[in-house]
Amino acid sequence: MATILDGKKLSEKIKQEIAEEVKKLTDASLQPPGLAVIIVGNNPASKVYVSSKKKACAATGIFSLEVALDENITQDKLIEEIEKLNKNDKINGILLQLPLPKHFDEHSALEAISPEKDVDGFHPINVGKLYIGLDSFVPCTPKGIIEIIKRYNISVSGKNAVVIGRSNIVGKPIAALLLKENATVTIAHSKTQNLPELVKSADIVVSAIGKPNFVKGDWIKEGAVVIDVGINSVDDPSSPKGYKLVGDVDFEEAEKKASYITPVPGGVGPMTIAMLLSNTLKARLRIGS
Ligand code: GUN
Repeated sequence: MATILDGKKLSEKIKQEIAEEVKKLTDASLQPPGLAVIIVGNNPASKVYVSSKKKACAATGIFSLEVALDENITQDKLIEEIEKLNKNDKINGILLQLPLPKHFDEHSALEAISPEKDVDGFHPINVGKLYIGLDSFVPCTPKGIIEIIKRYNISVSGKNAVVIGRSNIVGKPIAALLLKENATVTIAHSKTQNLPELVKSADIVVSAIGKPNFVKGDWIKEGAVVIDVGINSVDDPSSPKGYKLVGDVDFEEAEKKASYITPVPGGVGPMTIAMLLSNTLKARLRIGS
């Protein structure tokens, strides 16, 4: 049976560490870190994410500012708001909640965020720095995965890692980070052939595709480390809400084969917010007193 990688517990510990660092600043009468979260429109899932980000800031002493914009504003107006935040001294980190409503150009909006305040690590400058191994803001979910791996003392060097999914938010950056840790990395995607065989060769599997129970237990090599990034809602008549959250991996089966596995919920998810706070603290400490 696998050891469960408890991201919930670990994220609480990290948030505690961050709160202590923030307290050091405020005890010295210095400004706490400040995070601005921009939300455009009324996407219900985005609203839930933004509210949990604000709560996590409050719990660690980080100042947060929600900038809620109407979905009918223009791209120029959005950029203007981002530029105001770039100049705002109380704000060290800026997060533009994605996805944006359809008529916006996401790339150019992300590029308007100052790379020094880009706590999501989505600006091309930070993406490039990550690839060439320079210090940069690393996207929160992949950073959370590496933090889990390190804090559980899981060795990565020389291991075969298979990443399923090639998104800019998870797949590509986690592949870069695993490569930096000296894994041999393969990125699989919807056109990949013989995926079960490929996954069977992996010492480390990271799945980030958003398909419930897609990765089967018999794809998992004995002793592999399984990191499940999927958060998928499936019908569950036995639950009061009528649904439950499951990952991309068939947990019950995979748990019997893996050496370590992340649960859903309570694995990678909580680490993402903890890493956002960590990046915001990093942005604050960069500018000194
Ligand atoms: N939407 C889904 N995940 C993310 C994320 O990590 N950052 C932002 N800004 N939006 C998201």
